[in-house]
Amino acid sequence: MEQYAIKGGNPLVGEVEIGGAKNAALPILAASVMTDDTVYIENMPDVRDTNVLLSAMSNIGVMVKREGRHSVIINASQISNLVVEDEHIKKIRASYYLIGALLGKYKHAEVALPGGCDIGCRAIDQHIKGFRALGAEVVIEHGLIKTNAEHLKGNHIYMDVVSVGATINVMMAAVLAEGATIIENAAKEPHVVDLANFLNSMGANIKGAGTDVIRIKGVSKLHGSEYAIIPDQIEAGTFMFAAAVTKGDVTVKNVIPKHLESITAKLLEIGCEVEEADDCVRVVASKPLIHTHVKTLPYPGFPTDMQPQITVALALSKGTSIVTESIFENRFKYVDELTRMGANIKVEGNTAIIDGIERYTGASISAPDLRAGAALVMAALAAEGFTTVDDIRYIERGYEDFHLKLQNLGAQIELVDTERELQKFKLKTG
Ligand code: UD1
Repeated sequence: MEQYAIKGGNPLVGEVEIGGAKNAALPILAASVMTDDTVYIENMPDVRDTNVLLSAMSNIGVMVKREGRHSVIINASQISNLVVEDEHIKKIRASYYLIGALLGKYKHAEVALPGGCDIGCRAIDQHIKGFRALGAEVVIEHGLIKTNAEHLKGNHIYMDVVSVGATINVMMAAVLAEGATIIENAAKEPHVVDLANFLNSMGANIKGAGTDVIRIKGVSKLHGSEYAIIPDQIEAGTFMFAAAVTKGDVTVKNVIPKHLESITAKLLEIGCEVEEADDCVRVVASKPLIHTHVKTLPYPGFPTDMQPQITVALALSKGTSIVTESIFENRFKYVDELTRMGANIKVEGNTAIIDGIERYTGASISAPDLRAGAALVMAALAAEGFTTVDDIRYIERGYEDFHLKLQNLGAQIELVDTERELQKFKLKTG
């Protein structure tokens, strides 16, 4: 079984190039089916989630042609099937973006109910409410969400919770609805804006993405486009915090510093230096880390997808820190693994109370989900001794070449598949 073998203790030093944002790529790829013209997407991350989505699209008759590792040509003029239920698609959350996209274009879609990371109950009531408001019938049967509409008509929709997924899904369907749609209490994440920019580049008329009111004027059809996906805010933030926990000096390149403001603010609070340039940020951690408090919030607040990474840093920070998770109710499962590495963290409901320790010690641990998996690798890089991290398929869902990028920064980390390879790594790194 593949696992990461890690010998901790090396500060991460150097430069790392950030890829395209997974959470922007997924809706953009899904939205590419909304035109019969050809779409060319660049800066696509080569990670498991995007690959699963592309193969599901291919299975319903979409022409998907890879050009190198990070570009793809998509043509959906020959879609043969509006039922998406291959065995892999259920495993990724973003499968449901095909509902909004197909419903918008064909007024009908059936897609397997989504999975994704097990970080709490992930309701889809706001997606359903939005589709119904546009005039679609929605039923859930035999594990599929089935949507159908005679025709879609714009409407005024107030989201009861701020939801990235529901905002994106309803925005896609509304683009090809008749008349105007207003989405209030919309999510403001950079990937919502990126999708809106992409749809506008295909001829859609969307205004206000990035604010909490999105106004859409329906158009009758979309045309082809060439588009480059924005850099991944969470991959960047992960490397920024990896610099902090290993007492390193890392320049994170190909980023939009504005998208990283809440992350940068917390790094400054805990005693790191952060230098920003046009498209890169440098994080230097030369002093002991200091405690702080943080609460996850929708953008521009501190991202829930960075919660495990900041917790790993705060567990090494002097004093007591409090982390409050306000988006997902079950996102502290990794704390048990961190405790096995010596962390002193007490979880009460959606709050973690952290008493800083001097150092982690290596252990055999498992990645419980995507972001927590990356955070546990960060802890291992800072730990004394060896760590093995199992279930790395979760990490591969959202980080491209994670261990190779870390190796380039001086980390002692390898992907090993057998006991023999693990022993070899131990001998080599001593
Ligand atoms: C997306 C991201 C995920 C990130 C999350 C929050 C993708 C593929 N995933 O997930 O990485 O952690 O945003 O930034 O982009 N909710 C409802 N009803 C709904 C929809 C959501 O109650 O219909 C609740 C959820 O249970 C959760 C909160 O709203 O408590 C936020 O969820 P949402 O923003 O929808 O997250 P995802 O789009 O699933």
